[in-house]
Amino acid sequence: MTEKGLQDVVAAETRISDIDGERGKLWYVGYDIEDLARDSNFEEVVYLLHHLELPTRDQLDELNEFLVSEREPSPFLVSLMPTLAQQTSPMSMLRTSVSAASAYDPDGWEHTPEANYRKAMRLVAKTPALIAMYHRMRTGQETVPPNPKLPHAANFLWMLLGEEPDPELADALDVSLVLYADHTMNASTFTARVIASTLSDMFSAITGAIAALKGPLHGGANEEAMKMLEEVADPARAEAYVKDKLARKERIMGFGHRVYRHVEDPRARILRELSRRIGERVGDLRWWEISRAIEEVVLREKGLYPNVDFYVASLYHCLGIPHDLMTPVFAMARMAGWTAHVREQYADNRIIRPDSEYIGPRDRTYVPIDERG
Ligand code: COA
Repeated sequence: MTEKGLQDVVAAETRISDIDGERGKLWYVGYDIEDLARDSNFEEVVYLLHHLELPTRDQLDELNEFLVSEREPSPFLVSLMPTLAQQTSPMSMLRTSVSAASAYDPDGWEHTPEANYRKAMRLVAKTPALIAMYHRMRTGQETVPPNPKLPHAANFLWMLLGEEPDPELADALDVSLVLYADHTMNASTFTARVIASTLSDMFSAITGAIAALKGPLHGGANEEAMKMLEEVADPARAEAYVKDKLARKERIMGFGHRVYRHVEDPRARILRELSRRIGERVGDLRWWEISRAIEEVVLREKGLYPNVDFYVASLYHCLGIPHDLMTPVFAMARMAGWTAHVREQYADNRIIRPDSEYIGPRDRTYVPIDERG
């Protein structure tokens, strides 16, 4: 029997992450996302997803050193960026850049587990610089070199905005990267694993994942949610706006989830509070208040809870992240999970080749072209 959208179909075994959609729980390698969001940081989660253990201090130092040393994109990517900055949307830039990053990777076409691990870490390390460089070039600003003293999240804000960020804002971004880092067999991770299962290379698999994330039903939802907050513009308008959209059978972006169907996405719970705190910190609670008003109406009218992308919108807005870079920042975090899944697929591979149910006509007689009317 066909399960449209492959709902509930188990497509792979994984040790990386797990969801309980009934209870609204998410774990990375057995660790509750709430504990990781509170006590861990993005670099530690990168280590966890790839090594399936939390790092010791020395192991984390070693990873940090590698990531910091790999932050600069290759000269080839730097030379492509002015054109990409003028001619492409942010997610298209990222898709093209990751594809192009294969050209000068020091490990070349080597496909050993060690080479694939280094390729994965280079992609994790370089993505923030690609996004920041793209934004500064398209807005006619000088690019900002990475700051080796800053951790991953803070360094991204530094390269993007050109000033050292308030530590509380950098921490908030870091928490969101932890929350975005992996999420079992979502559409983009599945795409990456399908490509990896043909034994294609790491860059090809991640290029495909970025293409899948770009769509508004997946990663593109955070930017769409921000557009909605701007359209609503005032909490008092939320009720009429949402009712009108629902009456027209339109989707409310940042709501609903394939897996968390009757409970709240645990990431949304953390982000709601974080978005409020950062709104207060920067003295702009308006976006959070609009979000709360929308949330209340969507739950009452349609029984839908916000997903991870909804409160990221108001949070990232308050962090100063341009709205069309919200999905690339999601990709920057998910790079950790995608690359871990690609390596897991390589380690125990069988080509992913599902079946389809044919529903077209059968046993037709071929008619020569001149006799067709
Ligand atoms: N707004 C309005 N209605 C929604 C909705 C939304 N965001 N999400 C789901 N629904 C409704 C559907 O219309 C359908 O209602 P119906 O039974 O009355 O027709 C029902 O909920 C089930 O939706 P379905 O399309 O089967 O869910 P799905 O599992 O295929 O899709 C999503 C999951 C995430 C793609 C979907 O909820 C969605 O489009 N959300 C908005 C985009 C988004 O935020 N994506 C980020 C996901 S992390």
